[in-house]
Amino acid sequence: MSNHQPRSTGEVQAHRGASAVAPENTIAAFRAAHDQGARWVELDVALLADGTPVVIHDVTLDRTTNGKGPLGQLVAADLTRLDAGSWFDPQFAGEKLSTLPQMLEALGELGLNVNVEIKQHEHHKSLAQLTETVHHCLQNRPSGVDVMISSFDAECLKAMHRLDPSYELAMLWSELPPDWLDRVAAIPAGAIHLHYRALSFNVLDRARENGLIVRCWTCNDPAQMAPFWEAGLGGVITDDPRLFL
Ligand code: G3P
Ligand code: MG
Repeated sequence: MSNHQPRSTGEVQAHRGASAVAPENTIAAFRAAHDQGARWVELDVALLADGTPVVIHDVTLDRTTNGKGPLGQLVAADLTRLDAGSWFDPQFAGEKLSTLPQMLEALGELGLNVNVEIKQHEHHKSLAQLTETVHHCLQNRPSGVDVMISSFDAECLKAMHRLDPSYELAMLWSELPPDWLDRVAAIPAGAIHLHYRALSFNVLDRARENGLIVRCWTCNDPAQMAPFWEAGLGGVITDDPRLFL
């Protein structure tokens, strides 16, 4: 493989699954990622009103299901009546939203590793409820599923570190704040996940000097990342892993 592509499949993460070809954050999307040769997937997790951890990106159902309304008005039993596939394509009709434990089981069967992006929403009762729930699910995941945890919320990552210092943590940013190295050290995180448009050779140099991994999201054009692999880019999070594999 040339220096203008990822060095290994481990550097390519399927964003919400292979969400270019299947409905995001559903088992169908993660199966598609597996079929494309991905070894890692990224998913989003948040809590329902009853504390159930559900795999979904938005704080409402409206965009990615046939339901309406905020997650904060739902309980686990509501998940069974929702169709999370038809909005994408009729061939995915009946695809369900999954709880985090259900999804971890499915990923175990597919042999996939997972970047769990924890979403912090206003309806969550507390940071402790959110992080302890995710931690409990991860502790009970199938063996063989490797995990990293990412979040736009540094407090969330700090809480996960307190629960288990061995977690691999990644701070998410759209743009880097000036004091990004201090903020990463305060978590402490071993990686940053940065919007691909904010990536630069300078960032990669400073990350390397500080022993940090840099991955970028959400990039669906390998040509845009090509110059950065040789400079130390650690991974890409993409809707379309087949483009990078
Ligand atoms: O983990 C990278 C990416 O998922 C962050 O943004 O909004 O797609 O969850 P978003
Ligand atoms: Mg995400």
